[in-house]
Amino acid sequence: MKQIEEKIEKLRKEIHEHNYNYYVLNQPVISDLEFDNLLKELENLEADYPELITKDSPTQRVGSDLTKIFKPVEHKYPMLSLSNTYSEQELIDFDKRVKDKLKLRGDVEYTVELKIDGVSVSIIYENGIIKTAATRGDGTIGEEITANVKTIKSVPLKVRNFDSNNSPKLFEVRGEIFMKIEDFIKFNKSREKNGLKTFANPRNSTAGTLKLQDPKLVAERPLDIFVYYLLSDDLQLKTQYESLKTLQQFGFKVNPNFELCNSIQDVINYCGKWETKRETLDYEIDGVVIKVNSIEQQKLLGSIAKSPRWAVAFKFRAKQATTNIRSITWQVGRTGAITPVAELEPTFLAGSTISRATLHNFDEIKRKDIRERDKVIIEKGGDVIPKVVKVIEAERDKSSKPVKPPDVCPECGSKLFFPENEVAIYCINPECPAQIKGSIIHFASRGAMDIEGLGESLINQFVDLGFLKSYSDIYLLHKHREELIQIEGLGEKSVDKMLQSIEKSKSQPFSKLLFALGIRYVGEGAAKKIAAAIGEIETLISAERSEMENIPDIGPAASESITQFFKNPKNLKIVGDLKDAGLNFKSEEKKETSEKLKELTFVLTGTLSKPRDEIKDLIEANGGKVTSSVSKNTSFVLAGDSPGSKVDKAEKLGVKIIGEEEFLRMIK
Ligand code: IVH
Repeated sequence: MKQIEEKIEKLRKEIHEHNYNYYVLNQPVISDLEFDNLLKELENLEADYPELITKDSPTQRVGSDLTKIFKPVEHKYPMLSLSNTYSEQELIDFDKRVKDKLKLRGDVEYTVELKIDGVSVSIIYENGIIKTAATRGDGTIGEEITANVKTIKSVPLKVRNFDSNNSPKLFEVRGEIFMKIEDFIKFNKSREKNGLKTFANPRNSTAGTLKLQDPKLVAERPLDIFVYYLLSDDLQLKTQYESLKTLQQFGFKVNPNFELCNSIQDVINYCGKWETKRETLDYEIDGVVIKVNSIEQQKLLGSIAKSPRWAVAFKFRAKQATTNIRSITWQVGRTGAITPVAELEPTFLAGSTISRATLHNFDEIKRKDIRERDKVIIEKGGDVIPKVVKVIEAERDKSSKPVKPPDVCPECGSKLFFPENEVAIYCINPECPAQIKGSIIHFASRGAMDIEGLGESLINQFVDLGFLKSYSDIYLLHKHREELIQIEGLGEKSVDKMLQSIEKSKSQPFSKLLFALGIRYVGEGAAKKIAAAIGEIETLISAERSEMENIPDIGPAASESITQFFKNPKNLKIVGDLKDAGLNFKSEEKKETSEKLKELTFVLTGTLSKPRDEIKDLIEANGGKVTSSVSKNTSFVLAGDSPGSKVDKAEKLGVKIIGEEEFLRMIK
């Protein structure tokens, strides 16, 4: 038995070593076949002696248990996010803030690292062996994804060079899980071949994979990791640089491009260098992370809300690519506005293949002189819709001609309307199917009637099949239950769920309904104010323009548009039908309000746990006000994840910055 145990232990050691060489160092020393043979030998021995299996055995990467739910776990140290900078000046400002706060005359030492565009993870090791792994979640509480993370071959199950006398018994590492670009393209291609939905970019693909409940499926997908942070109460690390070196010694995969900078100028040079060199990498980065190197200084600097004062992200400019415009098409929106779209030769840019870009309106086409078959530069930043930056005129085909606006609607063929003093072109046929689809999509959307399960593609189908012609038909869909169940891709369960949410939507407040009607210039905010001031639909229908203009923030354009809307008998019929369906056309009694935030002005920045509108409602319901920019009159800046420059401005002006928890305490 002793002999077997020793044999197994030797095999494990060898396999761990080869794994490290292959996945962490990218320097295999044996062939794949030799490696597979070693693994097979270990598997056979463990099959014969299952009592000898240990958690850190290389055979235990892929567990067989399905995860039903990802358990919530509280992070021992909160997972902070970084504030973003976009220019050299903002980096200089950051450096100045650091120096001021530390009361330093000389330069600060920084570690600079590439900002990997993936999904962050926290992994805990106990006695050198992987214990748990969790997602970031809201920074305080994440979800446990241990089984999935263990399948990633570059994540050590067992730490290298672990010395039970000197190494920390318990420590946490943080890093970014990602997919290499090449692996992502291959993976998406195979999904496409199998008729599965493809992912938009490597980051989404990584996030989707980590949410899978079967670790066996995760193991088949090409995930990788770069680790950038080491935390432990038992370690006396002096610098971030030393932390990265220690992580490397422990066998973690650290991105090799980190550097030490002696001044902010060095940092700026590093950012510039990688902005151009990013194309040479086989994974996506979206910037550089700059960290004050000394941990003592980091502690002195502390953090504000959810971001440390000792680190900042420098985000790269939007990525550009050149491609050709195949044609220019015109799309009809819900208001009947016609938008030009450039149909492009598909190009891979910033993690996804782009085949269309919006051209906004006809004026934009004229201004940039964009023509069909032009070679153009396109740009995409973050998740933003791609746009055409400019035409490469030198390469223009001599026979090309300027684009002419259409004179009939591309969807219904009716004559288009060109209002004076406006850049937009409209289709004013109320029966235009594109408009019907667009307006019903808007009606059912989250900010409006919030009908879950009745999304864009179903609405398009239902309009084509004749089930929906106007809003009120939504409330008659239950009569077609049997027919709906027969539609491919639907079924009893999803139809019933949808019908339930349709029923539920009848109790949406009047303000949401008013917004859902899609009256021009009546956005979510305006609808709320009008509903609160006017109270019910009859009063609104008969209201004078001047009455509406007396409502704060409601201007002549909205008042005029509302008047016109209710003059139209077709719209009055729509309102009548919706009323008959039982929808709510009256404002509820004024909500209970408090004066806890009376005379306080808030500015919101970064990603908060709820949509901004909800937070704004909460502030207003408690007597406070929300404005968009920071001034000395701002009482508080409420900062969420990845806050922008508003936080800096607040610091400069001495405005207090708070996080969400503190805010909630204020109104409790
Ligand atoms: S440090 C307080 N270093 O970027 C330190 N983050 O908003 C916070 N990221 O959530 C993180 N590469 O997901 C750090 N070398 C790196 C990084 C990195 C990517 C991600 C991470 C974090 C986000 C910052």
